Amino acid sequence: MQSNVTFTDIPMSQINKKSLNLKNHWDTVFKTKKPVEMSWYQPHLQKSLELIRRAGISREAEIIDIGGGASTLVDDLLKAGFKRLSVLDLSAQALTQVKTRLGLKANQVMWVEANVTEVILPEHHYDLWHDRAAFHFLTSPEGRKKYVKIMDKALSPRGVVIIAAFSQKGPERCSGLDVARHSPESVQAELGKRYHLLETAEESHETPFGTRQEFVYCVFKREE
Ligand SMILES: C[S@@+](CC[C@H](N)C(=O)[O-])C[C@H]1O[C@@H](n2cnc3c(N)ncnc32)[C@H](O)[C@@H]1O
Repeated sequence: MQSNVTFTDIPMSQINKKSLNLKNHWDTVFKTKKPVEMSWYQPHLQKSLELIRRAGISREAEIIDIGGGASTLVDDLLKAGFKRLSVLDLSAQALTQVKTRLGLKANQVMWVEANVTEVILPEHHYDLWHDRAAFHFLTSPEGRKKYVKIMDKALSPRGVVIIAAFSQKGPERCSGLDVARHSPESVQAELGKRYHLLETAEESHETPFGTRQEFVYCVFKREE
């Protein structure tokens, strides 16, 4: 069963205009396109699943998928027996699609509709912080600082972080938005020295339109 955690989302009245515009942008994307029409679509996040397996994450671990979108990672983790799952996304549309797909199983998941740079999450709670293709939309140093501050507070003392972003060979824009491309070094620089890089992996993702998006996956463990 899902643990009983209380989230304190920022009330809608306090969400700034920029954040609201971003939410509207992503809601429109998920309203107007089917998952398979989105460039980042994969039927299963195989690379993420492989890295989660290799990091030795326990079935009892608290896992949060940041910017989970409509991806099937949560479906696959539930199937694999992971019990404490949370999915955070700015887009209510995306979360609704996944909840509908999961049916009753959706009740086993904690859903967090929020901007990752503004949300208040439970402290030292998550054993795994997973993010595929959300971090790279933070194009300002301030946005990335906020992200890391929130992650740092929410992660358990020896928590694992998996961030998958467009690599230096990846696209400069996605879904009509600018992105910041990354390398293991740039992600390490954002996270700071407390985070020990365990492994990296590259992925040449074939989009549903037959083009390529180059990703870099970085796995970190937080040291005491
Ligand atoms: C490119 S999609 C990736 C979706 C999913 N992780 C996948 O791999 O299929 C990016 C997702 O991040 C979400 N997102 C973008 N910026 C965000 C933010 N600041 N806070 C929370 N979610 C955000 C979007 O709504 C979208 O679902």
